[in-house]
Amino acid sequence: MEIQLWREILDPYALAVDELIIKFNHIIDEYRHVGAYSPIEQVTGRVKTISSILEKSQKKKIELAKFEDEIDDIAGIRIICQFVEDIYKVVDIIRRRSDMRVVNEKDYIENVKKSGYRSYHMIVTYDVETLKGKKELQVEIQIRTLAMNFWATIEHSLQYKYKSNMPENIRERLSSAAGAILILDQEMSVVRDEIMDAQNSFTIKANIVADILTNIQNLYKVANKQEVMKIQDDFLRIYQKGDQTELAEFSHQLDLISARYRAQSLR
Ligand code: GTP
Ligand code: MG
Repeated sequence: MEIQLWREILDPYALAVDELIIKFNHIIDEYRHVGAYSPIEQVTGRVKTISSILEKSQKKKIELAKFEDEIDDIAGIRIICQFVEDIYKVVDIIRRRSDMRVVNEKDYIENVKKSGYRSYHMIVTYDVETLKGKKELQVEIQIRTLAMNFWATIEHSLQYKYKSNMPENIRERLSSAAGAILILDQEMSVVRDEIMDAQNSFTIKANIVADILTNIQNLYKVANKQEVMKIQDDFLRIYQKGDQTELAEFSHQLDLISARYRAQSLR
């Protein structure tokens, strides 16, 4: 197949990957903007290379004419979560979306692979618009924790290095590392509530500070410079004290001042 034709076939997959990365990143933003903990920590994606499509087609005896139907991971999205519990939240989010239709799911967390691999896989169909009209594509979404991802990345590179003959001692080490990763994820789940509280209050504080700074910036345009400078000094003093309740009260007062200026400017 000519390179030109490959490009034509693979371009929509690149579009799907780009769009999905944007969409999942927006889910993170939505959570953060309401001051909530996001079950998604990070999103990445890739389109399978031509050489690895050829390799997989050969290995699985797939006719080249049918590779788009038979290979379901031409477009791949990887969603990284902090905790195992988050993975199932993300699965739910994906199941509820109207722009993705789930066609297959594999829970390698409940059913750990022999290698020790853990992850949640979903195959969804997703529509993109091209010059030739709508095209429905398959996308593989892998959802895993930071710890699972760490293990999978290392195992993958060792698999690549040793191809099909990985030395037994390396295989054993990977297997025991998988056990350690499992325990790490379990330990993290135990402290999850505490970690989430800390992150939540951090996000809330960041939002309050952002509100205050926006207000101060706007006041500079309308209010007396001396007054704004005093407000800025007050803010820095309260911020350094580190009392979040006081900071929230200050933000509220600032909202009232800003509202007063807005009302005046309307007169
Ligand atoms: P393929 O699509 O041919 O891989 O077979 P499948 O559809 O049965 O795949 P499966 O859902 O088991 O895995 C798909 C993808 O998950 C792979 O392409 C890898 O990215 C990842 N994966 C699966 N098993 C392992 C594993 O043992 N180690 C690592 N590092 N990754 C794995
Ligand atoms: Mg597959």
